[in-house]
Amino acid sequence: MSEFMLERLPHMAYGGDYNPDQWPEEVWEEDVRLMQESGVNLVSLGIFSWSRLEPQQGRFDFAWLDRIMDMLHEGGVRVDLATATASPPPWLSHAHLEMLPVTADGVRLWHGARQHYCPSSPVYRDAARSLVGALAARYANHPALAMWHVGNEFGCHVAACYCDVSAAGFRAWLQERYGDIESLNRAWGTDFWSQRYSDWDEVLPPRRTPTWPNPSQQLDFMRFSSDALLECYDIEHAVLTDKSPGVPVTTNFMRFFKPLDYWKWAEREDVVSDDVYQDPADPEAGMRSAMASDLMRSLGRGRPWIRMEQTTNRVNWRDVNVPKAPGQMRLWSYQAVARGADAVMFFQWRQSRAGAEKFHSAMVPHGRPESSPTWHEVVKLGRELGGLDAVCGSRVTAEVAILHDWDSWWALELPSKPSIRINHVAQLESYYRHLFDANVTTDFARSSDDLSAYRLVLAPSVYLISDEAAAKLTAFVEAGGTLVMSFFSGIVDPFEHIWLGGYPAPFRRLLGLEVVDWLPLSDGEQVVLRFNEGAMARGDVWSEQIAPAGAEVLARFSGSSLDGQPAVTSHRFGQGRAIYVATRPDPAAMARVLKSAVSEAGVKPVLEAPAGVEVVRRSTPRSSMVFLLNHRDGHVEVPLSDPGVNLVDGSEVHRGLFRLGPRGVAIIREGW
Ligand code: GLA
Repeated sequence: MSEFMLERLPHMAYGGDYNPDQWPEEVWEEDVRLMQESGVNLVSLGIFSWSRLEPQQGRFDFAWLDRIMDMLHEGGVRVDLATATASPPPWLSHAHLEMLPVTADGVRLWHGARQHYCPSSPVYRDAARSLVGALAARYANHPALAMWHVGNEFGCHVAACYCDVSAAGFRAWLQERYGDIESLNRAWGTDFWSQRYSDWDEVLPPRRTPTWPNPSQQLDFMRFSSDALLECYDIEHAVLTDKSPGVPVTTNFMRFFKPLDYWKWAEREDVVSDDVYQDPADPEAGMRSAMASDLMRSLGRGRPWIRMEQTTNRVNWRDVNVPKAPGQMRLWSYQAVARGADAVMFFQWRQSRAGAEKFHSAMVPHGRPESSPTWHEVVKLGRELGGLDAVCGSRVTAEVAILHDWDSWWALELPSKPSIRINHVAQLESYYRHLFDANVTTDFARSSDDLSAYRLVLAPSVYLISDEAAAKLTAFVEAGGTLVMSFFSGIVDPFEHIWLGGYPAPFRRLLGLEVVDWLPLSDGEQVVLRFNEGAMARGDVWSEQIAPAGAEVLARFSGSSLDGQPAVTSHRFGQGRAIYVATRPDPAAMARVLKSAVSEAGVKPVLEAPAGVEVVRRSTPRSSMVFLLNHRDGHVEVPLSDPGVNLVDGSEVHRGLFRLGPRGVAIIREGW
């Protein structure tokens, strides 16, 4: 954690969402006893308790929360206290129908589930402010309080609202951004299809229209919707910092969650936290959760973060809910720690008896804990994490960054493109997969960030780019950096208007080429590439016709209408190099391109390890800890060049081959 967080949570935090209000008080004592047995030292308390905390408007009932806060404190368990605003009580929407959200089709979403509020609703915002004020005033100085948990998974079910209140909020947001209606008309290109506005009152959210709504309008509405929810967070944050100063504040993110620009959100948090529900049936689940972890570390600008939710075993919300294999929960928990988390938490502590999530696994199962293999894994993990104080506060550093901008993602996936098959996250993964396999640690960065600390920057289809960001990327290469960029980058400006002057106008000089035409590939269609050294590969999704203007050709298309034309190019620019990839190469070919870029940039893997073994380093100014994570079902041997101590079990580790069991984990502190 940051120094700020370490004061309150000096140990690896372990625990989960705790909903004691779903249980008779007799169960609470057993809860605290089992928490102690399993090493739980932090719980996220009362995330959906609004209707219990405020059974009628303005009438608060804190007696039960007082009792459980005190019991937890006496039991040595700290509290990440929820503001409970993610599920408004029925009395609120019953009295104020207008606070319920409305879809693009004009359908109002009713209470009876959760997250049923319009983010712009003053009724909702005032009620949330009042609840949080009362909670903060009551618990700011409670000794169990470790941090505040604002809302829950903002935008998870309702990421945008299209009601009249939201429309007014959208107009105010646009007025702030553009000032006058003429600037809005220019920014949205409203001369197309006779959309020119003469008055602000005519401007609406992109509600259901006969065909595509204006893309610039859609993009601005996505920005606005992320900001509208962020304002809800800000309202609570302001109350908490006023009434409960010095207590860290977080809200739980959801990996690569498209609706919210987490770069902006993370700036307002003291600690970033994240919920990850890997699908055990997905053979690439390990790669995907590593990628989410690297994003969380990057959002917090390197600070340790919190794995706020994951599941001990099965979830309940896929069509078929496959269990985690033995050891998988432990392995994936350590993966989060390896990539910078100082907390391993779950949804939830005790499996619910009623409600929509009663079949979702938890730390404490429905049955007797002692006969549940999951409970035994929970206890073992808790005890192990209890011995990892040395890891707390240590950092992960990376020399590689992958560019990831929310507004480019939003714009890229708007309809009416040359192809709708370019998927932002799939593009990120096409790069990340190789770095994960090769144990090259990677950050994520905004294209407008200062990139000078990196040696290698990867730009997977950065479709939308501002002038300033393009200049920064150019300066990065000029000063000696290595860049790899994919097709359909640098196409539009932040208003979703084409950069004119030959594609990709902002990067033509940098890449030493011009893209003359796009040839998107239909489903299942592939192109063949031939690298200069003779290796053959395939590409899918996209191809394009390139006219080199200084770039050398590393691979050419073979056999299609683009036969003999460049597919991968490389351009020396200033002190650095810019590589361009004009299709989506198969994973082996992408690995080939990236391997040579990694070596050109002088970047080294943490360790050369057998396939399936993930290696990450965390360090402090005084110590270096190498995490070894075996994702395979069988034993592996990892060659180590330095001796050390395995922090997981305290054993000495010698130079030479180190044996890891199936889904085994080791943290080797180098030196004795
Ligand atoms: C999310 C929510 C939790 C719970 C879990 C179930 O992460 O935050 O309240 O619904 O999903 O997987």
